[in-house]
Amino acid sequence: MNKVSRDIHTIAIVGAGSWGTAIGAWLSRNGHKVRIWDIDQAVIDDVNQTHCNSRYLPGCKLPSGLQGFTTLESAMQSCTIVVIAVPSRVFDSATRQVKSHLHLMDPQKPPVIIWGTKGFASASGHLLSDIADRVFGETAITATIAGPSFAYEVIQGLPTGFDLASRSEHNLEAIANLFRNQTALVYTTTDIVGVQIGGATKNVIAIAAGISDGLKFGINTRSLLICRGFAEMNRLNVALGGQTETLMGLSGMGDLLLTCTGDLSRNRRLGLGLGAGKQLDTILAEIGQEVEGLQSARETYHVGRRLDVFMPMTERVYRILYEGLPPMQAAHELLAIGPSLSE
Ligand SMILES: NC(=O)c1ccc[n+]([C@@H]2O[C@H](COP(=O)([O-])OP(=O)(O)OC[C@H]3O[C@@H](n4cnc5c(N)ncnc54)[C@H](O)[C@@H]3O)[C@@H](O)[C@H]2O)c1
Repeated sequence: MNKVSRDIHTIAIVGAGSWGTAIGAWLSRNGHKVRIWDIDQAVIDDVNQTHCNSRYLPGCKLPSGLQGFTTLESAMQSCTIVVIAVPSRVFDSATRQVKSHLHLMDPQKPPVIIWGTKGFASASGHLLSDIADRVFGETAITATIAGPSFAYEVIQGLPTGFDLASRSEHNLEAIANLFRNQTALVYTTTDIVGVQIGGATKNVIAIAAGISDGLKFGINTRSLLICRGFAEMNRLNVALGGQTETLMGLSGMGDLLLTCTGDLSRNRRLGLGLGAGKQLDTILAEIGQEVEGLQSARETYHVGRRLDVFMPMTERVYRILYEGLPPMQAAHELLAIGPSLSE
């Protein structure tokens, strides 16, 4: 296993849900001073008083070095790095909030903003890197991290791997070293588009895979969906300027396999319920947490249409969720398209 030499940083995490808390625990165990903030004060109180996040990661003990902060200002005061882990629908507003406090960060070091959020921006369908570029411009170094990473496993230190992407090639390895340890392999790339596409689109295919399993189709069918799902993800990736090689890595194929096969995935569970004939509202109430794939399906569908990318599975998932298309009819439609048109 690699031993990594790294500088120790003061890091502010924005969003104390499943992922923000897992990243916070991970970076704290790597020796960094980690402050976590959320708009939900109850979650922060829980972190400080019980060293748990019982709402999002019940039963997981957090390192004592991970401290909850009641305001973003106090969390960002003199820190050198900010990690944003809010849902994609609020990424735009969260980045703007962070930008307005950038002057509070350690003036000795260039500010580094990293996001673990996955998805397209709400309504606009922009890549999150486009939002970050627009908000931060040249005022900060920006990067994103993605891979097959259920928060519940990451917080337990079970081994996994990630892609860390930044256009700032010069800073890539130093940023990756923040995260590297004996259970986290972190690969680096400047293909920030390719790294984001996996996370933005895989939830849609996970819903499809869940639907297929809920309909009691077999593992052959699930594999067919994953494989053809990857093909349509990559058509969108290439249309947006990402590299196929990147999508074949951890943030693409890795995360797709995880989300389509792991029952910890809220998106897969949404699909399972739909395939089993349950109503959307009932399934969402049962899951009891935000299911980002609902938004991903809408955004991915519209981005694909705008760019004229052939995405038959995404289209069917969108119509099931938003137009009441029965799941079995969607399956028949997909089979009827056949291989000739699907490249
Ligand atoms: N859960 C995972 O295993 C996992 C793994 C990798 C990436 N992600 C990505 O991380 C992002 C967050 O997912 P999650 O599972 O942690 O979501 P979550 O629903 O568990 O938690 C989201 C948290 O963000 C907080 N929040 C909402 N708006 C905010 C704002 N404006 N400022 C500060 N906090 C705000 C909420 O109060 C909540 O605590 C998503 O884009 C997801 O795709 C999640």
